[in-house]
Amino acid sequence: MTDRPAAAAPAPPAAPAAVPWWKRAVAYQIYPRSFQDSNGDGVGDLRGILARLDYLAWLGVDVIWLSPVYPSPQADGGYDVSDYRDIDPLFGTLDDFRDLLAAVHERGMRLLMDIVVNHTSDEHPWFVESRSGTDNPRRDWYHWRAAPTPGRPPNNWGSRFSGSAWQLDAATGEYYLHLFAVQQPDLNWENPRVRAAVYEMMRWWLDLGVDGFRLDVINFISKVPGLPDGEPIEGTPYGDGRPLYTNGPRMHEFFQEMHREVVADRDAVLLIVGETPKISAEQALLVTDPAAGELDMVFQFEHITVDHGRDRWDPQPLRLSRLKRSLAHWQDTLAETGWNSLYWENHDQPRVVSRWGDDGAYRVASAKAFGTVLHSHRGTPYVYQGQEIGMTNAELAGLDDFTDIQSRNHYADAVDRLGADPDKTLRSMRPLARDNGRTPMQWSAEPRAGFSDAPPWMAVNPNHRDVNVEDQRGDRDSVLAHYRELIRLRHSRDLIALGSCRLTHLDHEQLYVLERAYRGERALVVANLSGTPAELPDAPWRHPGLTLALSNYPDSAPTPGALRSLRPWEALVFVSAEPGG
Ligand code: GLC
Repeated sequence: MTDRPAAAAPAPPAAPAAVPWWKRAVAYQIYPRSFQDSNGDGVGDLRGILARLDYLAWLGVDVIWLSPVYPSPQADGGYDVSDYRDIDPLFGTLDDFRDLLAAVHERGMRLLMDIVVNHTSDEHPWFVESRSGTDNPRRDWYHWRAAPTPGRPPNNWGSRFSGSAWQLDAATGEYYLHLFAVQQPDLNWENPRVRAAVYEMMRWWLDLGVDGFRLDVINFISKVPGLPDGEPIEGTPYGDGRPLYTNGPRMHEFFQEMHREVVADRDAVLLIVGETPKISAEQALLVTDPAAGELDMVFQFEHITVDHGRDRWDPQPLRLSRLKRSLAHWQDTLAETGWNSLYWENHDQPRVVSRWGDDGAYRVASAKAFGTVLHSHRGTPYVYQGQEIGMTNAELAGLDDFTDIQSRNHYADAVDRLGADPDKTLRSMRPLARDNGRTPMQWSAEPRAGFSDAPPWMAVNPNHRDVNVEDQRGDRDSVLAHYRELIRLRHSRDLIALGSCRLTHLDHEQLYVLERAYRGERALVVANLSGTPAELPDAPWRHPGLTLALSNYPDSAPTPGALRSLRPWEALVFVSAEPGG
């Protein structure tokens, strides 16, 4: 562990007035190992990010979320942390981090650290001590249980990465809980000393100058006492532990305590976003109500799982009405008091243009259409690296192309243990595997896409020759140019950043329609999220005073009234004149 950090790098000034800065902001997520390599080892690093900051400033983003860069055995891409107060040599040093943070601030941007504290790595000194003996002082920093029946785990929960959520530890003959991989033991948040250690670590990063946190699976930290069995899941040996470890009984209490202990009087300057699978909009309202003093916003999962069948490995075609109903409910529920975060992609999701758009003939148009729709909601948009150029899913042919522990564990469980057909299993894994979003960033048409001089840790997508930053920067019709316009529009119009948001035509399976309003200003967003022309159901559309502000076709209707039908993936933003403009 390192000593207290040296002088804090100054953060950009907070936005004036009562509106917190992050309500007008656009965030950008960096998955460091795949962003930019600077030292020729085939893995992205902090100096690589530094070298690309001018690009992010040019794009116009306000805040960067950095996926974990802490020392880690990298069992789960760094989400298995073995030291919370240092940088993994793979990515650089703490001095590199200080330089990066200062350079981010110099450009008027901010930086969020990814805090992974539902669990640690099994190589974290806390766990090494904890597992060393039943009377070790850190024993109750984790969830240890003796087996009630010899050979049977303490409860029937399955791990989110396949198999049981319990691992028998030879040293003491007891089991420890791991909701994720065996290498990711869950911390025991019931223990106040665990919580104090986490808060102290978070304050340490704030002292270093970071501007907030993304909190990994933070609604898993409170488990139902006694860790009872879950309802049996048919066809599996496991029970459903999710209702027993998600949004648990002390969740709000822990969030409030964290806020008091870490955020304190810096509420106006920090951004705290929690990753919260299986949270409902109603629960998210309680969490993001500023009066509650918990989190600023959450990453919810409802909209991003509408195409899951039984699970991620059972992909279903998108029903647009389902996606809209879900997002409409979140917009309505959080409208008055809470706040939404908006995303299609991150390092755990496939690329939206491959998932729900068309990554062939209409790649450009469909990437822009999904960008337009996302940025037209009320909330803070998060752009995942490469989304802004319309990067597509990875080529995942054989098992060796899958690098992710979640996929590899699933394959081992399905094929090796249960005897499933290997080809069928791989087919079911390809569309939604997390690897899809983790291929190296495509900077140029050069070999290795300008990402690295060495063979990259994961294969670059061969389409980097056609899909890359360099080409798109000089092209006014590119996906990149379109994202830049979307970000500019949000920054220039409070109507887009802060206005009310209503989704209409919820049952329509092609059209995505949004209406925005703010202090007498109005916007109408109409997108055809399909590859076939869409007739307008109730044309002509009377929205007096609105004119076209942004489109992904060169010759779109200038006003809503002139619209008759939409071409494949056509997406239009109409706005009223700016006050005084
Ligand atoms: C979050 C991360 C994911 C990780 C998991 C366990 O969902 O985004 O990448 O595997 O938590 O930390």
